[in-house]
Amino acid sequence: MKKNLNRRGSLATLAASAIALCFCSILAVPGYGQSLAGRWAATGRTLDNGEQQKSILELKQDGNELTGEMKTLGYTVQVKGTATESHFELFVPEWAQQKPLLVGDLVNGELQAVERGRRHMVLKPATPADDLPTVPYIDPPPIHKVPYNGLAKTPPMGWNSWNLFAGKIDDQTVRTMADAMVSSGMRDAGYIYVNIDDTWEGVRDANGNLQANHKFPDMKALADYVHSKGLKLGIYSSPGPRTCAGYPASYGHEEQDAKTFAAWGIDYLKYDWCSAGSIYKPEYLQPVYQKMGDALQSTGRPIVYSLCEYGMGHVEKWGPEVSGNLWRTTGDIRDEWSSMIANVEKQVPTAPYAGPGHWNDPDMLEIGNGHMTDDEYRTHMSLWALVAAPLLAGNDIRTMSAVTKSILMNKEVIAIDQDPLGKQASPVNNGELATWIKPLADGSVAVGVVNMGSAATTATVNASELQLNGPVKKARDLWAHKNIRFSNGAYSANVPSHGILMLRVSAK
Ligand code: GLA
Repeated sequence: MKKNLNRRGSLATLAASAIALCFCSILAVPGYGQSLAGRWAATGRTLDNGEQQKSILELKQDGNELTGEMKTLGYTVQVKGTATESHFELFVPEWAQQKPLLVGDLVNGELQAVERGRRHMVLKPATPADDLPTVPYIDPPPIHKVPYNGLAKTPPMGWNSWNLFAGKIDDQTVRTMADAMVSSGMRDAGYIYVNIDDTWEGVRDANGNLQANHKFPDMKALADYVHSKGLKLGIYSSPGPRTCAGYPASYGHEEQDAKTFAAWGIDYLKYDWCSAGSIYKPEYLQPVYQKMGDALQSTGRPIVYSLCEYGMGHVEKWGPEVSGNLWRTTGDIRDEWSSMIANVEKQVPTAPYAGPGHWNDPDMLEIGNGHMTDDEYRTHMSLWALVAAPLLAGNDIRTMSAVTKSILMNKEVIAIDQDPLGKQASPVNNGELATWIKPLADGSVAVGVVNMGSAATTATVNASELQLNGPVKKARDLWAHKNIRFSNGAYSANVPSHGILMLRVSAK
């Protein structure tokens, strides 16, 4: 703790210091500075109706070990961490990503912290009035099959606001992005969906209808605008009471929200588990997602249904039963090589479950966001195409560079992703080279050899590994955009570190 003693102090300051010292000694834990144990409250986001969100942190301290729980409406996580003097770090052990939930310091009797590396948070000692509203439990429905909605025969393509804009998305940004989807050629390359992710949600009106917040003054008008450009509009919600960013979500209002989305002219819903995790046990994932699947279908509007629950509970096995068109198989992607590769590798076990109408989703693209090299972004695009992943650009389409355009709009690579056979490639690893092979509808195959190493190397594709119906007749390098020749049943090329050799090979 920062001490600020006034050595020239008056009697009053001396008295104040004595009280402070006395207070400190009550809280002090021998050898570990002050105790952080207790019940702490923070005020969070203010909703459009003035309602202030609260977070309550309950902590126990044993030596320098901290345990406890952090609660917001519909969202409770167990936390664990350490305290060193007045500094503390808290983690959520059940999260795969071991990034801290809260990092901060005890300063003048308050916890001043940063939440998830992003949001500044001040937690004060909680008063009895600091409590969260209780959320009534709603039984999940009995399981039944929701019929296929006939959509997403090939992996959905479009743009999503989250990776770059996160909470800074608004009506104007979506409109200008839609304009850019047309002027850049993205729409004509197949990127049709313009998807608003989290943070658009306002509050419910007197009839319980969810409204958009002040950032989106007229969602129906926005949908009309996006449609007038030959594009489709996507939106986001959660089966819990709050979205992952803490905005109102669809718990207990599934049918009503589906109707609202349909009335606005929404064409795509990403439905993110988030706070549903504090209400439903993981065994209820299927009926909870089924509820919104039914609700969407009963609107009669074709709405692509994107399940986002990070691959829990073998979603690939029951996703089609709830009319899911795609489901996330991983946690959130970050704009870095290791995260991108980890995400695509994590969905290898689910490969047999991908096919027309229902796709594994290793998360949205980071191409053009600036933290990978162009070679890495080419590999990102190629791998997403090879594993038949949804192609949802996550960059600023309005300002993208010529290189980014050439990566996102490589029509030959997009054709691999959009191949109607809908097979998902799996890798064969050989030292630092990983070879991904994808059979295509016309009998040809796509093959990508990724150089996972830190130096350039020679990659070789052997025709015998491709399971073609005869000797190679035609082969094309999909990044060099040129026909190439196999000689003695093989083709070799130099591949930079983290780059890819990507070919389409045919026996016809
Ligand atoms: C989760 C999802 C992300 C994004 C955010 C929004 O983390 O996995 O893709 O939708 O929520 O809060």
